[in-house]
Amino acid sequence: MKPDATQTVFDKLLPDVLQAPVSATAFAPSNIALSKYWGKRDKPLNLPLNSSLSVSLGNWGTTTTLSPADQDTLVFNGKTVSGTDPFAIRLFAFVNHFRRRQSLPLSIESRNTIPTAAGLASSASGFAALTLALNKAFQAQLTDTELSIIARVGSGSASRSLWHGFVRWDRGESGDGMDSFARPLAINWPSFRIAIVTVDSSQKSHSSRDGMNHTVATSPLFSAWPAQAEKDCDSIERALIEQDFATVGHTAESNALGMHATMQAARPALSYLKPESWAVLETLWQARRNGLLAFATMDAGANVKLIYLEKDETSVKALFPTATCIAPFSVERAIERAAD
Ligand code: DP6
Repeated sequence: MKPDATQTVFDKLLPDVLQAPVSATAFAPSNIALSKYWGKRDKPLNLPLNSSLSVSLGNWGTTTTLSPADQDTLVFNGKTVSGTDPFAIRLFAFVNHFRRRQSLPLSIESRNTIPTAAGLASSASGFAALTLALNKAFQAQLTDTELSIIARVGSGSASRSLWHGFVRWDRGESGDGMDSFARPLAINWPSFRIAIVTVDSSQKSHSSRDGMNHTVATSPLFSAWPAQAEKDCDSIERALIEQDFATVGHTAESNALGMHATMQAARPALSYLKPESWAVLETLWQARRNGLLAFATMDAGANVKLIYLEKDETSVKALFPTATCIAPFSVERAIERAAD
């Protein structure tokens, strides 16, 4: 039988026999990509076709507590989730890769600190928090790189959710994915801001996973994406180092619109953006023509995220009074890795 490539990743990184778990809690922030991950070169391992770069959302994320139990249970945002729910199945499949047939039942209690209305609840912070909590509960003492590889197998964007601030995920080249992990960028930009303009808080109709696979498989425009996305990632990193906000913003906005263009050309077409999303963009572009330096990025959903600098917060709020503003660099503590 062909060895399962996903299991091989866990086998390589984890001790053969896990210690009995202790209770452990971990937090991981959500993140917004300024240069997007869209398209995989390997689906089971979530290996991307291009590098990506994100900014984490400070205290907005997921807190997960693991405790030894008589049987596996999952409570999400205060509600018990049935073991047959696809969400529970995906989570425990990941945990099983970690436990590898060892009888170590766990209760998972996970809570998103992201307001549900923001429509942002993402697998990124969820799988990152779960990875950190597993590492603590089993005292596996994984390095940051190993944690990022394991989180990536849960969900690609989770590889970037292990740090605050700007984070880059390098695509890597190898078939086993051991060189495809994220790392924090040593760039501090306290006046950098994100605003979430919510136009739709309902559950999205297609997951980002299904959306990207459908786009890669059917969109004739997709072939142009990986090379451009790689360039955008490099340009944004350079502009962040130089604190050149206009270049960061223009490149991030073009990157997001390019990603959405690949989906519109998919067959059948895929569109996460709603008329209200386009209305936000029109308002933003008009304001930019009048001198406001603010930019937009959109993911696999209808909401629009704005990036701007602190000095323009009043103008951004005047344009979008319901927007939620986030200061990504205002967090005081680093993300905890191991049990004390
Ligand atoms: C549009 O990380 O959710 O948000 O690896 O299949 O779990 P899987 O996909 P996921 O995709 C995120 C796509 C995106 C862009 C990004 O965050 O880079």
